Amino acid sequence: MIKKNAIFLLITVICVIIVGFIILSKTTNQNEKEGATMKNSKTLIVYYSRTGNTKAVAELIQEKVGGDLVQIETKEPRPKDYRTEVEQNAQEQESATLPELKTTITNFEDYDRIFIGAPTWNMALPQAVVSFLDSYNFEGKTVIPFNTNGGYGPGSTFRQIKAGAKGAKVLEGYSVKGGEEINGTMLAIKGKNKAEVSKEIDTWLEKIKQLKK
Ligand SMILES: Cc1cc2nc3c(=O)[nH]c(=O)nc-3n(C[C@H](O)[C@H](O)[C@H](O)COP(=O)(O)O)c2cc1C
Repeated sequence: MIKKNAIFLLITVICVIIVGFIILSKTTNQNEKEGATMKNSKTLIVYYSRTGNTKAVAELIQEKVGGDLVQIETKEPRPKDYRTEVEQNAQEQESATLPELKTTITNFEDYDRIFIGAPTWNMALPQAVVSFLDSYNFEGKTVIPFNTNGGYGPGSTFRQIKAGAKGAKVLEGYSVKGGEEINGTMLAIKGKNKAEVSKEIDTWLEKIKQLKK
């Protein structure tokens, strides 16, 4: 009788230990998953800029929402001369060439909110930005475009970003007049104008509910 009771007790203890282990491992798993989600809640601000206007907007956005700032750069240096760049860009757009990028974002999957900034080139995206869009998986991300231009607006840049960032939720973009290199004005988003642009960015971020995160 005593022997039977002892066996029963032993089996009960073993069962309690096994159930305990199962519960503990499930909790750890849950915590790991939550940890991963928290880690994923990150902002990336990526931009392409030749004369600093799009860069200035990118920096203002970073001041307001935080996150990591990354400049898109090509492996091959771009022409310094404006006319040469205009011609090379037109050719690349025409032939849908994707220039190789020097920039790589190894932890891209960690980001869930991605601001993408580009100037208008020939009323479209510089092909380096198309290369960037082609290089990463945007599934499930929130993408927020921004643009600077010489006075003719964003052209097809926002549409191209939307088409390129497949599977992403794309929010309303922000576009502002930047430089006019053609007339000798390089960086225009500075001083008093920069303060104005900063206010516009506040209004835009508030409208798309991205000011606080
Ligand atoms: C190759 C090239 C093509 C451009 N094409 C246009 C254009 O089609 N429309 C426009 O409004 N501005 C155009 N611009 C002007 C830029 O969009 C404007 O200066 C912008 O603010 C530059 O941004 P960044 O200073 O960040 O390089 C062009 C500039 C370059 C260099």
